[in-house]
Amino acid sequence: MSPAREPIAVIGTGYVGLVTAAGFAELGNEVWCVDIDADKIARLEAGEIPIYEPGLAESIAGSRERLHFSTDLAPALEHARLLFVAVGTPPTYSGDADLSAVHAVVDAMPPSDRHALVMKSTVPVGTGASIKRTFAARGKDGFRYVSCPEFLKEGTALPDFRNPDRVVVGDDGNWAGDAVVDLYAPLDAPIVRTDVASAEMVKLASNAFLATKISFINEIANVCEETGADVLEVAKGMGLDERIGRHFLRPGIGFGGSCFPKDVSALKQLAGNSGYHFQLLTAVIEVNELQKRRVISKLQKHLGTLVGKTVALLGLAFKPDTDDMREASSLVLAARLQADGATVRAFDPIAEDEARRLMPGVEFADSALGALEGADAVVLVTEWSEFRGIDWSAAAERMPGRLLIDGRNFLDAATLREAGFAYEGIGQR
Ligand SMILES: NC(=O)c1ccc[n+]([C@@H]2O[C@H](COP(=O)([O-])OP(=O)(O)OC[C@H]3O[C@@H](n4cnc5c(N)ncnc54)[C@H](O)[C@@H]3O)[C@@H](O)[C@H]2O)c1
Repeated sequence: MSPAREPIAVIGTGYVGLVTAAGFAELGNEVWCVDIDADKIARLEAGEIPIYEPGLAESIAGSRERLHFSTDLAPALEHARLLFVAVGTPPTYSGDADLSAVHAVVDAMPPSDRHALVMKSTVPVGTGASIKRTFAARGKDGFRYVSCPEFLKEGTALPDFRNPDRVVVGDDGNWAGDAVVDLYAPLDAPIVRTDVASAEMVKLASNAFLATKISFINEIANVCEETGADVLEVAKGMGLDERIGRHFLRPGIGFGGSCFPKDVSALKQLAGNSGYHFQLLTAVIEVNELQKRRVISKLQKHLGTLVGKTVALLGLAFKPDTDDMREASSLVLAARLQADGATVRAFDPIAEDEARRLMPGVEFADSALGALEGADAVVLVTEWSEFRGIDWSAAAERMPGRLLIDGRNFLDAATLREAGFAYEGIGQR
């Protein structure tokens, strides 16, 4: 019989917390989940999954007896010594990370020689040191601290948990770091053991690098448009170079989501607060903001003024296979189109509820073809796979203007042109 797995707690049951809880429950751990959102906990207890993440509902149902949900920390403290923290760290107005939820968790911890906080939330370098100082000042020196940043991607979060590229564990060399490493042992992933500050930086630097790669290829795409090269060919030729790699060389209308924008900005601010001006990241952010708006000039090039025109947006979530609308490019695009006098009609297969809340004045359709009805132009914003199955000949009949801007270079240009559309991608010849 395999040895019993260690019970753990997860504080914060959002995208990261729920996936972490489900993943460890699959491995056989009892998981005590805590959240301050009583409605979310009630829904989880009733077997409802509050977010859309492929496979998550099935995973949670499969390990339901090992998952415990509560708004009360006490059972978690009683049963588990490792307390994974997965609360939100959204940006403040200044671009720094808002650590108030992290501080609330730290404040709620009792003095203990038996427990450790394991930080999954993305936090600025120095947060672990500051939390340890807080514990010491309050007579809680026995409380241990481990940085274990999370690298999952929404949309493939469970496969990412089960098969991580690496697990980073930053600690001070006490029992807690070893216990976290043991917990991940069945996944057989490369483990990077380091100090707390370096672990915190691995996360921020990884996201900043990926965001830089996106802004870089977007700028190459823009130069391709000016010079007659085709960015898809260019990206293919670049990506085969092992030193560059093909991932994240897909040009589009900018990155969004709950992580890249805030983490890039948090790293830039962190550097600035420490006296270093991180010029490259300033450019990465600016390129991304401009990229979201370039679609407007593409539309104007074909349609002239946008006043009185109807523009359909296909896909609203920040990427496919999630209902997450945080920092989605669609939000900027819809607001800019409305400001220019256009009517915006939109469709997303999953994110509509959240989109309705965030996009006042936008008309929502209940199918892709419904969104195209009477439109002068359509912009593919999020590359949901079902959009490849649209009958574009039928779509053309519903649209007085047959213009398609493919913001993700996702659709087949030849098919669109055959159906009578003027097709324009990003950086394509
Ligand atoms: N979403 C991602 O793809 C992703 C990937 C890697 C890392 N991260 C990082 O993980 C962290 C969590 O992100 P998320 O997307 O899961 O956030 P989220 O907003 O989906 O979930 C956060 C949860 O924490 C709960 N919470 C807030 N304060 C609490 C408290 N004091 N006690 C208990 N629960 C509390 C909220 O009610 C919410 O359910 C962030 O720091 C984020 O940067 C996110």
